[in-house]
Amino acid sequence: LDNPIISDYEYDDLLRNLQDLEKKNPDLITSNSPTQRVGAKPLDAFDSIEHSIPMLSLENAMDADELIAYYDRTKRGLKTNRDIEFVAEPKLDGIGVELVYENGLFNFGLTRGDGVKGENITQNLKTINAIPLSLRTDKLSPPELLEVRGEVFMEKDKFKIFNDDRSKNDMSIFANPRNAAAGSLRQLDSTVTAERPLSIYCYEPGKINGKRFTKHSEFLSALKDWGFPVNREIKLVKNIDDIISYHKNLEERRHSLPYEIDGTVFKVNGIVEREILGLRSRSPRWAIAGKFKAEQVTSKILDIVASIGRTGAVTPVAKLNPVNVSGVVVTNATLHNQDEIDRKDVRIGDTVLVQRAGDVIPEVVKVIKNKRPHDAAKYLLPSACPICNKEVLRPTGESVARCNNLSCPAQIKGRIKHFISKGGLDIEGFGDKLVDQLVDKNLIKSFDDIFKLSFTDLEKLDRMAEKSAQNVIDAINSSKKTTFSKFVYALGIRNVGAHLSKVLEEKFESSILEFQKATIVQLEEINEVGPIVAEAIVRFWSNPINVNMVNNCFSNGLEFSQRKFQSKKFENLSFVFTGTLKTIKRSEAKNHVELNGGRVSSSVSGNTDYLVAGESSGSKLKKAADLNIKIIDELQFLEMIDK
Ligand code: IVH
Repeated sequence: LDNPIISDYEYDDLLRNLQDLEKKNPDLITSNSPTQRVGAKPLDAFDSIEHSIPMLSLENAMDADELIAYYDRTKRGLKTNRDIEFVAEPKLDGIGVELVYENGLFNFGLTRGDGVKGENITQNLKTINAIPLSLRTDKLSPPELLEVRGEVFMEKDKFKIFNDDRSKNDMSIFANPRNAAAGSLRQLDSTVTAERPLSIYCYEPGKINGKRFTKHSEFLSALKDWGFPVNREIKLVKNIDDIISYHKNLEERRHSLPYEIDGTVFKVNGIVEREILGLRSRSPRWAIAGKFKAEQVTSKILDIVASIGRTGAVTPVAKLNPVNVSGVVVTNATLHNQDEIDRKDVRIGDTVLVQRAGDVIPEVVKVIKNKRPHDAAKYLLPSACPICNKEVLRPTGESVARCNNLSCPAQIKGRIKHFISKGGLDIEGFGDKLVDQLVDKNLIKSFDDIFKLSFTDLEKLDRMAEKSAQNVIDAINSSKKTTFSKFVYALGIRNVGAHLSKVLEEKFESSILEFQKATIVQLEEINEVGPIVAEAIVRFWSNPINVNMVNNCFSNGLEFSQRKFQSKKFENLSFVFTGTLKTIKRSEAKNHVELNGGRVSSSVSGNTDYLVAGESSGSKLKKAADLNIKIIDELQFLEMIDK
């Protein structure tokens, strides 16, 4: 139930104890003993079992209008003008299963199959620790027969680790957590399933003998009492406005949930009302699924081009037949590097599965091999830079190939774009297209040249009206007032990101001269700096061209407004924020921590000192509890600031 009362260590200890006892007294082993979760012999095939009540599917509503139409239809079906109460649930993107309990003991379990018959996967389900082998009886007695339906899935973090591990061991990878969960449940050898990090949430009854419910919400609460995991996002909604806002809210938050969902489900809460509404052939009239926009869509690769970044890294990019992926038209997807191309065997002309999740750059997940044209040839990255024609080299042991020509126009453009980007000097109205034009026309050759641009330089350019030219000049001028950390980030020193720039700002008290003089030894004394970063910094400053560019910035008017440190009370303390904060913005909270000497990181680790948990916190909260990290709420955090 995500709320362990003993540590994993203590659990293992007790389990071993039990194993010893059972070895000595085999006649005392019961079918619901935790030792019986693994250890059954591999099967030759799964037998098929009929569901006592068919497992139907859900009708889909593709958008808010279709949800409204469904709601109105349901009102007509119930011959009422009053609002109808629904239970709103996430639509989990996993595998539907049914668990059958007799007199409180897990008897068998099966897949949804075709809805009428499923496969007997009892041995595999038993390996999922979240599935109770016997029901809790402290709050509610178990019915004679209880069939529970739910969704088996793999959490996103665990899927990533699992897949990375497979890839390292040259095993085929799964396209998404859903396929990984399905593959894991379909193992004939349950010891394999036992190794897979599977979870379950339960959400519907099958047949029940010996207990009646009048509301779905009562059934869900009974599930919790019996010890089944029930999703904590499930809420009662009382009218159509609540339905729409639940759907929108969940779609906005879908990426911050630790598991994948592909929509919402709304179920009429009253059981009598459900009976009145009844069933269609394949789906009940009392429920509807609100679909989210798809994040994985297939498209065709028209071409593969090599793109050169600011560090000279060569990234293969697939040019796609335009497709709409979760509401955005995608024409490019990254193929990462040559190793990834080889591993996935991606070729021009292939039909591929493209994924775009949240703000992440679209990527090619896998090739649909049976749609490959017979003449599609293997793809190799070019050995010469497509921009400057100089040699592209891939050092042994590295996955990234590079163009090492520092004056390659692609690198020049990349460095300047990074310099003026959001985390850097953040020059408003200075877009990528403008940089391309200025470099192509030889008006700027490096980032310091930006400060020498004049109104007349800009005015001559394509699509540049008088007013916008002046706006750009104004934005350049106001960007000259910046901070040490933004400027250092903007320089684009290898491995020096936003966080490290702030650490350096504090260490060198905003003095570029001191930073420039720092030796490898001095740099490595800083907690966050390792040998690779220290070397990159020293190498950067040992190049007179770089020193000259930095000096030019200052002689053209760049200056630092100091970040004023308020206190050192959070010195050496690391904070992680999770969930929704109510009275303060995340960015403000972060500022408070940093101005008092602390640091904020995005994920919980052994180094975290405080987890600040806002409303509806998820996996980070669990992880922090597992690691025994101090968890405080928003109020306690505000008190710490004010102290
Ligand atoms: S209720 C008749 N609730 O979606 C009721 N199903 O398209 C059907 N699913 O096969 C099941 N999350 O595997 C229900 N909260 C949820 C669900 C859910 C995911 C899956 C389930 C089912 C499919 C129906």
